[in-house]
Amino acid sequence: MTATAESPAVGEVKAMLVTLRILRTNPEGTAEHAAGESYWQEFQVEAHATDRVLDALHKIKWEQDGSLAFRRSCAHGVCGSDAMRINARNRLACKTLLKDLNPAKPIIVEPIKGLPVEKDLIVDMEPFFASYREIMPFLVTTGNAPARERLQSPEDRQRFDDTTKCILCAACTTSCPVFWTDGQYFGPQAIVGAHRFIFDSRDEGQWDRLEILNDKAGVWKCRTAFNCTEACPRGIEVTKAISEVKKVLTTGEI
Ligand code: SF4
Ligand code: F3S
Ligand code: FES
Repeated sequence: MTATAESPAVGEVKAMLVTLRILRTNPEGTAEHAAGESYWQEFQVEAHATDRVLDALHKIKWEQDGSLAFRRSCAHGVCGSDAMRINARNRLACKTLLKDLNPAKPIIVEPIKGLPVEKDLIVDMEPFFASYREIMPFLVTTGNAPARERLQSPEDRQRFDDTTKCILCAACTTSCPVFWTDGQYFGPQAIVGAHRFIFDSRDEGQWDRLEILNDKAGVWKCRTAFNCTEACPRGIEVTKAISEVKKVLTTGEI
């Protein structure tokens, strides 16, 4: 069957008009808005239910307003650069389908919270990466390099398998109410990053990391809100990882 204006071909998905309501900020100001002032702007795009929010944002940028700013790179949930707040929840724009958002209603798109906005959906990630650097996200050994690879049993590898999946997107940290308000908390991602090495049988820097996390910016700030676990696009059990680190600090046993 051939598609007509009235009837799409069998298997063809009909396009629809979708509204995106985007929170915008221009550090230089616009004709209507002062420098750094945030304001809402609506765009309508023709899209398919199976398109992703990232596709809709690209359509806006390429066809309607080239000044719209957002980060993206891989477009396939790997690089972690397009975390944003979509319908009041942190998600990756490249992994969020329009059909899962009720596209009959405006889709609300905002920058992730708790980090300074640079422009539109782009935030300054430096405070986030500074916390990650604090916990020493690298293998620490005392120079006893083996002749071949450092061996590890499958059981030992399993202990930190979940936290190796982190793509540093910041969806967890910027969904945490303690991170929004506290001003000091490292945030859940830094603890996930530390967990990945603390439970690695080959690492010898566990207690240095644990000491860092035992301090005032560390794990004890967590109030078990679970927002981080719900936000993680990799399905990492973030709150569980935090509780495992707390347990080591309480029992003294890894
Ligand atoms: Fe993103 Fe999950 Fe890593 Fe947090 S733990 S930075 S939400 S991938
Ligand atoms: Fe925040 Fe997650 Fe703890 S949302 S309070 S870090 S469980
Ligand atoms: Fe890379 Fe979405 S663009 S994770």
